[in-house]
Amino acid sequence: MLTLEELEEYAFLNHIPIMLKDGIEYLTRYIKENSVTTILEIGTAIGYSSIKMALVDPKIEIVTIERDLKRYEEALKNVQSFGLGNQITILYEDALNTTLDKKFDLIFIDAAKSQYIKFFEKFKNNLNESGTIVSDNLLFHGLVSKKEEIESKNLRQLVKKIDQYVTFLKENQEFDTEFLEIGDGLGISKYKNNKINEKGEK
Ligand SMILES: C[S@@+](CC[C@H](N)C(=O)[O-])C[C@H]1O[C@@H](n2cnc3c(N)ncnc32)[C@H](O)[C@@H]1O
Repeated sequence: MLTLEELEEYAFLNHIPIMLKDGIEYLTRYIKENSVTTILEIGTAIGYSSIKMALVDPKIEIVTIERDLKRYEEALKNVQSFGLGNQITILYEDALNTTLDKKFDLIFIDAAKSQYIKFFEKFKNNLNESGTIVSDNLLFHGLVSKKEEIESKNLRQLVKKIDQYVTFLKENQEFDTEFLEIGDGLGISKYKNNKINEKGEK
């Protein structure tokens, strides 16, 4: 059986971006403290964050989506190795083409940074009304605060996209977002209270 340390080392050696330690620790604590039981993850990579989240409690059920075949196959293998096949379902698809009917307590967005607004708009329909959308990489290795200094055009465009996503979250009419300088920068979004009117109806 694999260990979490081996997965972390494999990701590091093979340049596979997985959640930073502080970020995943915050997320797993949040899941525990808020009794989250259903999770949708956009961006599985090799299954590291799914495995960490599933290990919080055997009642937790996770659907996670990955569009890269090699990573999907590695994630399948890793999930099996941890004996978590009954808790984690991995879909090999582009998340933007995935349709799910189910609602989740928590949606974790950790995929192509240029598409975060699309992921948010699409999958908010799969969020329970008291649920949370967590977005990772909002600081993008500290580059978001120094975008004028970035020389590579592609990188500058990516950073611009994250900046636009942060503005989208700040100005969002439906959701309030708390921004945390934890890991690579997390956004914690929840429906605004005014979704429930004065009579307590939705
Ligand atoms: C940062 S990694 C995910 C890391 C993982 N959540 C962890 O912490 O262990 C992002 C992954 O999202 C996948 N991805 C990017 N865009 C996607 C999309 N539109 N649909 C599905 N997967 C996508 C990439 O192939 C990549 O493996």
